Amino acid sequence: MRAVIINGSARGAKGVTAKLGQALAQGLLRGGAQVDTLYAADMDIAPCTACLSCMHLHPGRCAQRDDMDLVVSFLQQSDLVVWASPVYTDTVSAQLKVVMDRCVCGMQPFLFSDATGMTRHPMVWRMPSKVMLISTCSFPEPVVFAPMIATIRDMAENFGGRCIAEFCVPGSLAIQMEPAVLEPHLALIAQAGEEVAREGRVRPGTLAAIKRPPFSVDRFRELAGRYEDWCRKRQAKAAEKRAKQN
Ligand SMILES: Cc1cc2nc3c(=O)[nH]c(=O)nc-3n(C[C@H](O)[C@H](O)[C@H](O)COP(=O)(O)O)c2cc1C
Repeated sequence: MRAVIINGSARGAKGVTAKLGQALAQGLLRGGAQVDTLYAADMDIAPCTACLSCMHLHPGRCAQRDDMDLVVSFLQQSDLVVWASPVYTDTVSAQLKVVMDRCVCGMQPFLFSDATGMTRHPMVWRMPSKVMLISTCSFPEPVVFAPMIATIRDMAENFGGRCIAEFCVPGSLAIQMEPAVLEPHLALIAQAGEEVAREGRVRPGTLAAIKRPPFSVDRFRELAGRYEDWCRKRQAKAAEKRAKQN
């Protein structure tokens, strides 16, 4: 199996999303998969201009030449694409959304009805048939991920694939105060990666364990309190510096 992880965090390899992605990559590798990770924040990828040259003039090829050419070549060669994004304003980051929109260059303008009766465009080139989502968000409530999960599931189907698992770990604000709380989840996500590489799926027990948040809402509030104290001190220091400069 060949997999590509496309990370849309503005913090790239330094974020919590990257830690989740690295754990998954380790597990996939352990299971015998070939894995590449691309960080959208480090790439030069312009938004889709909706010129539709890809659909009407040069089937399968975007009119823009930038790092999306590299992303497309990875997508064309992979069996699994892992969309990795923090929740930004209730959904995927703008960095990742740009990549997703640009994938439209793989679609033909023609229409067909799929097995469920939904209208789709046929593809010119094959997108990975297996799709996964990795995400984190500041707040502790798993419901925060609902819009992003819906987007990734629909998008997978629109591109002729299927979302086989979502690993969404809430409470990154507290995780950053005490990174050790994430360790059990990182081990579970690595295990899930190994299962995907070996069996093409995540075992239900592993998925259920990953879905349990890493701490209770009460523990989150305790750690978040420490974060708020840290923020107050930082703001006070910055205000003091400004006052001295004036
Ligand atoms: C522009 C922006 C919007 C955000 N919107 C949300 C949000 O709607 N809900 C939430 O729980 N966290 C939100 N966050 C927090 C991020 O999801 C959180 O900081 C996450 O850890 C960032 O991922 P990273 O560590 O990989 O950078 C937002 C952060 C940014 C920068």
